[in-house]
Amino acid sequence: MQLERILQSQGFGSRKACRGLVRHGRVAVAGATVADPFAEFPPDGLTFQVDGSDWPYREKAYLMLNKPAGHECSRAPKHHPSVLSLLPEPLRNRDVQPVGRLDEDTTGLLLLTDDGQFIHRLISPRHKVAKVYEVTAKHPVDDGQIAALLAGVQLHDEPEPIAAAACEQVSERVIHLTLTEGKYHQVKRMVAAAGNRVEALKRIAVGPLRLPDDLPEGAWRWLDAAELEGM
Ligand code: URA
Repeated sequence: MQLERILQSQGFGSRKACRGLVRHGRVAVAGATVADPFAEFPPDGLTFQVDGSDWPYREKAYLMLNKPAGHECSRAPKHHPSVLSLLPEPLRNRDVQPVGRLDEDTTGLLLLTDDGQFIHRLISPRHKVAKVYEVTAKHPVDDGQIAALLAGVQLHDEPEPIAAAACEQVSERVIHLTLTEGKYHQVKRMVAAAGNRVEALKRIAVGPLRLPDDLPEGAWRWLDAAELEGM
């Protein structure tokens, strides 16, 4: 594939803009500047550099972000910056979007991609992908509340009680709650219906993926092949 087309496919702008990047000596492959925008490279497995930063070629982009509070999962945020503002411009240009939504004040594991089928598979209730939330409650969590969350709690505007797939007590006020759907404010509403209140909410896992300890709040990284394979 021609270098300018590779750059365009990875979100570096129009073909003309990408040609300009190459002609201005800003693009390198394997450490050597490439001056010819029409130079051919096999894209799979290619890592190129733009202005000295490494970019692995990805036909589709799959990322994880450790979402900080104070960010909305919308492309047209109303009150806070979008989580997309935490990504570099080429990824934003690629139409990468969050896989489902976390509330503005929820932190933790958020996946993003430009693969619509992947988004559908992860958020469709039919696929029952487990999402694990670390809930810090306002009041001590008692056995009755855990039993209610596991048995199912009645939420307004839902026809039937909704049960957590799992609920583990971690400390007096902290539980790990596993859900397989993603209804609006679901954790907060379930915990309230069980007689407590969410004080802080962090998502720590989606399917087999756990939020890595070494990914600081606000940072993102690519999913690797093994992680994607397991999804
Ligand atoms: N449930 C909530 O209440 N908020 C979230 O952000 C995610 C799940």
